[in-house]
Amino acid sequence: MTFYPRTAALMQRGIDFLGSQHAILCGAMSWVSERNLVAAISNAGGFGVIACGAMTPELLDAEIAATKALTDRPFGVNLITMHPQLTDLVAVCGRHAVGHVVLAGGIPPKGSVEAIKAFGAKVVVFAPTLALAKKLLRSGGDALVIEGMEAGGHIGPVSTSVLAQEFLPELAEDHLVFVAGGIGRGEAIAGYLEMGAVGVQLGTRFACATESIAHPAFKQAFFRANARDAVASVQVDPRLPVIPVRALRNKGTDLFTAKQREVAGLLDSESLEMAEAQLQIEHYWAGALRRAVIDGDVENGSLMAGQSVGMVKQEEPVAAIIDQLMRECETALGRR
Ligand SMILES: Cc1cc2nc3c(=O)[nH]c(=O)nc-3n(C[C@H](O)[C@H](O)[C@H](O)COP(=O)(O)O)c2cc1C
Repeated sequence: MTFYPRTAALMQRGIDFLGSQHAILCGAMSWVSERNLVAAISNAGGFGVIACGAMTPELLDAEIAATKALTDRPFGVNLITMHPQLTDLVAVCGRHAVGHVVLAGGIPPKGSVEAIKAFGAKVVVFAPTLALAKKLLRSGGDALVIEGMEAGGHIGPVSTSVLAQEFLPELAEDHLVFVAGGIGRGEAIAGYLEMGAVGVQLGTRFACATESIAHPAFKQAFFRANARDAVASVQVDPRLPVIPVRALRNKGTDLFTAKQREVAGLLDSESLEMAEAQLQIEHYWAGALRRAVIDGDVENGSLMAGQSVGMVKQEEPVAAIIDQLMRECETALGRR
């Protein structure tokens, strides 16, 4: 029995895949998506995902165990493909019989998808192009997330609305596709479900929930911000493979530009290899995000946020946010 029959019908394949009550994922957010938020999302009927980020296998092991202690509902683990200990992290997920592993941050390295499937978990992949999406789904990906440039955190160049029009007509019938990026209200969810998505992924809307451990100053910055304050980082040197990051504009935004110049200088003097340069940039982001989320340094830290931040006005329990999204979606579908 559901209060949202139209929405549930369109989400059914996503619900069956995730094992949750609603096909609403809370996308992994480094430092934010830890045991408390992840368990709260899953307990409220959504699908929480632990952000492994730069965690060691030992830390991930502890985080999964702690999350299991807070919820008996399904949740997933997001692993960054360029993590140097990816194989060990996959093994940790296997030992905990994690049901869903999300591979983010690039093309999964050879053998990683097989290693995850070997212990029975489902693999969720990201793909920036239709061709790559088809390839990943052919080679073992069980579901796909398409994420537009409205999103918070690392972003691609194309908007969610365009990605949805490119990917869904081609893939939705035979594959499970979740849409992410810029979703703030249920009316938008209704639109993507009607286009064939089986569910959605949100980050920004959940980052400041009551159950989120983000620092009060981080949350206040979100409540004050408008859509236009969430800007994409600028790439200062075309050689540096910097993936743009969307975050609230602050002093940290300028510090990142300076960091890029520093790394580009090291490349010039050949005191740094390209792969190491990229890793330094990623470590920079992880450190800057921690400063904002955990320490509350909203001046110098990174306030990663999507354009939907303008719709985040106050601290609310996860259950209230999910109920509101489902209610708005159901009403929108009912008006059709
Ligand atoms: C603060 C923050 C941190 C994030 N960190 C990660 C991450 O570590 N790994 C990842 O795959 N996505 C990360 N994301 C992206 C989210 O998982 C999600 O896909 C995105 O927020 C969805 O778009 P939205 O922000 O418009 O809702 C992050 C997003 C935010 C806002």
